[in-house]
Amino acid sequence: MRVLLTGGAGYIGAHTALALVEAGHDVLVVDDMSNSSPESISRVQALTEAAIPLLEADVRAFVAVRDFVRRHGPVDAIIHLAGLKAVGESVADPVRYYDVNIGTSVAVLQLMAAESIPTLVFSSSATVYGEPEILPLREDSRTGIKLANPYGKTKRIVEELLADAAHADARLRVTALRYFNPVGAHASGLIGEDPSGTPNNLMPYVAQVAVGRLDRVGIFGDDYPTPDGTGQRDYIHVMDLAAGHVAAVENARQGFDIYNLGTGIPVSVRELISAFERASGRSIPTEVLPRREGDVPSSFCDPRKALDSWGWSARRTIDDACVDSWRWQSRNPNGYADRP
Ligand code: UFG
Repeated sequence: MRVLLTGGAGYIGAHTALALVEAGHDVLVVDDMSNSSPESISRVQALTEAAIPLLEADVRAFVAVRDFVRRHGPVDAIIHLAGLKAVGESVADPVRYYDVNIGTSVAVLQLMAAESIPTLVFSSSATVYGEPEILPLREDSRTGIKLANPYGKTKRIVEELLADAAHADARLRVTALRYFNPVGAHASGLIGEDPSGTPNNLMPYVAQVAVGRLDRVGIFGDDYPTPDGTGQRDYIHVMDLAAGHVAAVENARQGFDIYNLGTGIPVSVRELISAFERASGRSIPTEVLPRREGDVPSSFCDPRKALDSWGWSARRTIDDACVDSWRWQSRNPNGYADRP
């Protein structure tokens, strides 16, 4: 198949591009580079020896994207990863989040209609569940419970938009993937997560402390009702997540469907930090801080639907993710700004 990745130069996009090429597919990328670097795609090309056409543009630049697709197509499927993803930023600037995250999704649907592209895989998030009622979270668990941030709301709204679009056009095959917490990097150490500014998420923060860019990790609360008092999440290795996208594209069925992509295993903040200390051989200073507003005590999924439908499951452990993340961070202390 030939697959267009919007946001394909970002963290999840670059790993997914690599997995698609390794599975025998052709890949095109459109990315506005607002939170990514073309260097990621250069490195995927070097790793795979494949040519990946890249258009540096906003997905909403309809004519430019359509012409790019016509030049390199026909395209069989789109994986729509382009969007804004910082929870705190979305609270401070909600209009921009609604504009970009919903506007790009509308543009993708319009492109699919114009160019007769039947298949779409959308980058959704476990955040749509809000505060879990029952754990583990299943695809039919209630969503939107105490969901306060605009970022999460845009993901939920786009899921509804996609369900309506698939309902209206029986030819469409649309899948929303609810990611849990993506971590790790490709085993080569050539591609990985390269957040701009100080990381918001735990794993890249820990990695930057280990490499000496930051002093210590703040633990946001150690009085949660969890075994060690720190928050639990379902950390999924980005290469497992990438394989999940390949499975979603290859198994796309008519209509709209939702899949959780996670391991099903809860890991606490302290457990992740210990795993990173083992992986890096460095000691990681910590400091307990107050809880972060909007955080839930624990979030992890039931990953059985993807296993039953596609034979997909996460194969890598949190230790694997820390080893790979450390390889990436220690070889590229400044991310893609460090040329190999
Ligand atoms: N944490 C710390 N210190 C930090 C950063 C995080 O203790 O410096 C803790 C958090 O309190 C939480 C855990 O580490 O318990 C994970 O936090 P992250 O920020 O890495 O991830 P979140 O689960 O908060 O958020 C992630 C994505 C969101 C997505 C959400 C879905 O960043 O985009 O998962 O559940 F919406």
